Amino acid sequence: MAEAMTLTRGGVTGLELLEMGAARIQVDDKKIINCRADLNQLVPFKYKWAWQKYLDACANHWMPNEINMAADVALWKDPNGLTEDERLIIQRNLGFFSTADSLVANNLVLAVYRHITNPECRQYLLRQAFEEALHTHAYQHVIQSLGMDEAEVFNMYREVPAVSRKAIWSLPYTQSLGDPNFHTGTPENDQRLLRDLIAFYLIFEGIFFYVGFTQVLSMGRRNKMTGTAEQFQYILRDESMHLNFGIDVINQIKIENPHLWTDTFKQEVLDMIKEGVELEYAYAIDTMPRGILGMNAEMFKEYLQFIANRRCVQIGLTQQYPGATNPFPWMSEMMDLKKEKNFFETRVIEYQTGGTLNWEDE
Ligand SMILES: [Fe+2]
Ligand SMILES: [Fe+2]
Repeated sequence: MAEAMTLTRGGVTGLELLEMGAARIQVDDKKIINCRADLNQLVPFKYKWAWQKYLDACANHWMPNEINMAADVALWKDPNGLTEDERLIIQRNLGFFSTADSLVANNLVLAVYRHITNPECRQYLLRQAFEEALHTHAYQHVIQSLGMDEAEVFNMYREVPAVSRKAIWSLPYTQSLGDPNFHTGTPENDQRLLRDLIAFYLIFEGIFFYVGFTQVLSMGRRNKMTGTAEQFQYILRDESMHLNFGIDVINQIKIENPHLWTDTFKQEVLDMIKEGVELEYAYAIDTMPRGILGMNAEMFKEYLQFIANRRCVQIGLTQQYPGATNPFPWMSEMMDLKKEKNFFETRVIEYQTGGTLNWEDE
């Protein structure tokens, strides 16, 4: 009975028994959700953007332990190296991000993946999941290199309200989808999936990361904590791809299922985006009670409104903050990082051109 339920209420998972002699896959058989065609066959490609993002992500491979942290360790241990406000920025952001990327990975693997019924999108999701593991690795590597109290930093999202609020906001979205009895295939449940995708891709990865990224990268631009800043720069580049993939998935679901995109649902999404802006603005105030490094909380308010406008447009909604401008135009350069233009110049390995393994040296 349970199997029959899956077949009638959702798409396939890829784990069904083989149907010997079944017809070969046609492009038109493929659908992003509620697909009935075999999910173990990657080709023929339907969503070329998903495959291209998978290739681009692989070409951007990096590892946290390749980044030289020596200057950061010296600066962090020097009692006069950083101001208290600068230390707070590093501590709070490591507190937030060290658990945030695990939460994103768990949402992907345990909630989202099962319901995205398309092999090329799943191929990217697997790559993204690995990148989230690398990001958690990067934060752990920084925390350990600086000799911070690991238990304190990793537990910050259960101790410090500024850090916990954003995780608390996002958890209901993934919990609803991670329920093993949840299946797509009804308008209500398909909207639940869409809501989770919007919460995690557009708001969690697309708004909640941006105050922290800007703060830490701003320190790097002032030649402080350059190794940490470089870790964040590589992560930011990955994250901007995650966000763009999420936007493509959301828009494709909308195209294939226009009945889900109701006025009520659109309003709900706009409300979620506005809540995201408020929470991230509160995070800016909590992490930066005084203006430093040429930044202050008011600038972040403007920046978040600017970002939120972009997020609205990216999924076909009306901008909510007319006229908001970007006080940190240098952030877009950071996202377009090419390996040959290594901003902080602490890393030399180039994956895109050279072979990465030389078996003869083993
Ligand atoms: Fe991440
Ligand atoms: Fe991500």
